[in-house]
Amino acid sequence: MSFQPTYKNVLVRKEDGITTVTLNRPEKRNAMSPELEEEMLDCILNLEADDETLVLVLTGAGKAWCAGMDLDLFFRELEGNPANAAKHVRAEWAGHQWKWHRLYNFPKPTIAMVNGYCFGGAFTQLVACDFAIAADSAVFGLSEVNWGVIPGGLVSKAMNIAVNYRDALYYSITGKPFKGPEAARMGLINESVPDERLHDEVMNLARHLAAMNPETLRATKQAVKATRDMTVDQAHEYLIAKNGQLAFRDPEGGYKQGISKFIDAKAYRPGYEPYPREKAEGA
Ligand code: COA
Repeated sequence: MSFQPTYKNVLVRKEDGITTVTLNRPEKRNAMSPELEEEMLDCILNLEADDETLVLVLTGAGKAWCAGMDLDLFFRELEGNPANAAKHVRAEWAGHQWKWHRLYNFPKPTIAMVNGYCFGGAFTQLVACDFAIAADSAVFGLSEVNWGVIPGGLVSKAMNIAVNYRDALYYSITGKPFKGPEAARMGLINESVPDERLHDEVMNLARHLAAMNPETLRATKQAVKATRDMTVDQAHEYLIAKNGQLAFRDPEGGYKQGISKFIDAKAYRPGYEPYPREKAEGA
């Protein structure tokens, strides 16, 4: 069934298999309030199962991508107030779930379209996305140290996953802001592009991904992510099993089609492009 929600803090727009999710608190620079965390968890869970979503793009309304946790509604209002203890636990759980577990393991490709400010807690969903493209003018910052805390949640871990040791330490400890090109230099994002090209660049990538075999993409991203923390022997065994699972799960038989269209039909060259997919019956 088609998923067309109406949230207070999140916008969902679907077009040709590409679903754009927009954090929508521009007046607060899309800082993540407890309510936004709950809505995002609900949204991501539903999109996992949504047939109309082949690729997910995550962005922000106005001049921010996301200014991190809402320091007022999340910390000052909830922390240390016994009356709000359960609400605090629940909001933290919802945030952790959507920003890391659901998004990092999302079964379809995800792209962070970083249109502006990206601070603190927002690094978690930035790194959880498979791809990240930013506007040259976007400002990033591990600002936690500037207001007396550590890059918590999962931010320190996310930095260790995404960038090298020196950059992780430099920006975590100094709290200095940096822009899109510097984020690209350190591998925190794939690319930084002129502001006016951001939308088109992201959509080009999203359309490319939306046209590919979804089961192959799903298994591939899982394979790369899952083997990060495995030994070589474990990874070898896992990847054999994963390929078997893919062959079993893939309704369009990408493996057979791919080889046959190259070797027999000479219809494409896999070194340059994906195999031309046949539309399923009734599509
Ligand atoms: N939590 C709560 N409120 C926030 C917020 C956050 N993380 N980030 C921005 N806001 C609010 C401001 O308090 C302000 O609210 P007000 O209009 O009711 O006064 C509004 O959003 C606009 O912020 P402002 O600072 O006036 O906008 P700006 O465009 O000049 O600067 C930032 C934007 C993001 C650079 C600045 O707001 C900032 O430094 N925010 C904190 C970023 C941060 O450290 N995040 C880490 C959290 S883990």
